[in-house]
Amino acid sequence: MSHETQILTPDAAGYAEAAKLLAAGELVAMPTETVYGLAGDARNDHAVAAIFAAKGRPQFNPLIVHVADLTMAEQIAVFSDTARALAQAFWPGPLTLVLPLRMGCGISDLVTAGNDSVAIRLPAHPVARGLLSAFGGPLAAPSANPSGKISPTTARHVLDGLGGKIAAVIDGGACEVGVESTILSLDPPRLLRPGGLPAEALEAALAQPIASGGDAAKPNAPGQLVSHYAPGAQVRMNADAAQAGEVYIGFGPSEQADLTLSPSGDMVEAAANLFASLRAADDLAQARGATCIAIAPIPNHGLGRAINDRLRRASAPRD
Ligand code: TXA
Ligand code: MG
Repeated sequence: MSHETQILTPDAAGYAEAAKLLAAGELVAMPTETVYGLAGDARNDHAVAAIFAAKGRPQFNPLIVHVADLTMAEQIAVFSDTARALAQAFWPGPLTLVLPLRMGCGISDLVTAGNDSVAIRLPAHPVARGLLSAFGGPLAAPSANPSGKISPTTARHVLDGLGGKIAAVIDGGACEVGVESTILSLDPPRLLRPGGLPAEALEAALAQPIASGGDAAKPNAPGQLVSHYAPGAQVRMNADAAQAGEVYIGFGPSEQADLTLSPSGDMVEAAANLFASLRAADDLAQARGATCIAIAPIPNHGLGRAINDRLRRASAPRD
């Protein structure tokens, strides 16, 4: 299947066209506040299978369901009081809750990979919300990139990776948060993926520390695969300086940096710039014939935990 990918405008006409495509089982990439998502009707097995095919993604990985509001969420998942309190505190926003699946809710088994739990989130981006309202149903949406590659934070990134393989992308500009949502399961609370909502905020809301979950050898979140988010060049973390021939990404003031995540050392800015900087560094490496991207140390708190998690996976040995 190869056809032109339409670029749609982030307005009522664009949402209507995108909703029509989605209702016909086609795939549409949409901006969220974290990264661009590759959306398909979460109730349509063919659409969900097409998501896996377009991404070239291993099928054992379940997908996040995006909803328009809490009412739609409660039709899909069973909310405990704690889950509802977290949703009320942090939705819309970059938090995904893994909750018991409501039986008979119509979500494709391919979305949950046959689990009796479902990952669900209410995104904050006005374009994602506009599309969800126009469509009126749940959308499965992993990041809109080929499996294992860097997540997209602009419509251009989406087209670079998936152009010709999906029906359309809604161009909503650059994503503000820049790293994927934080994934939390409950009873007991477990952090399955650090992300755009700092874990400290969840710990404060729950008034208890949250254990980190997940087993890289048996991933149930693709973001948990050891090698992921990989640019073409190798990646070296916690580099105080570049070695000969390396492209250097700085954090904070640096004379030496080819690129910087944030000149002032601001974590929010660094998260927003992370994936675009990895892409730009990769291009630079290719132009110079360099084989390695070195990255300055990032403090490991707040959004820094999500940034370091993604960098660890980008720098992991690859098969
Ligand atoms: O910010 C985000 O979350 C982005 C945007 C597009 O919303 N989406 C995203 O989706 O990162 P994806 O598919 O790349 O990552 C979703 C994660 C996966 O790692 C998946 O395995 C996990 O959610 N997940 C889905 N269902 C699950 C379940 N029942 N139990 C545990 N993890 C689950
Ligand atoms: Mg992804």
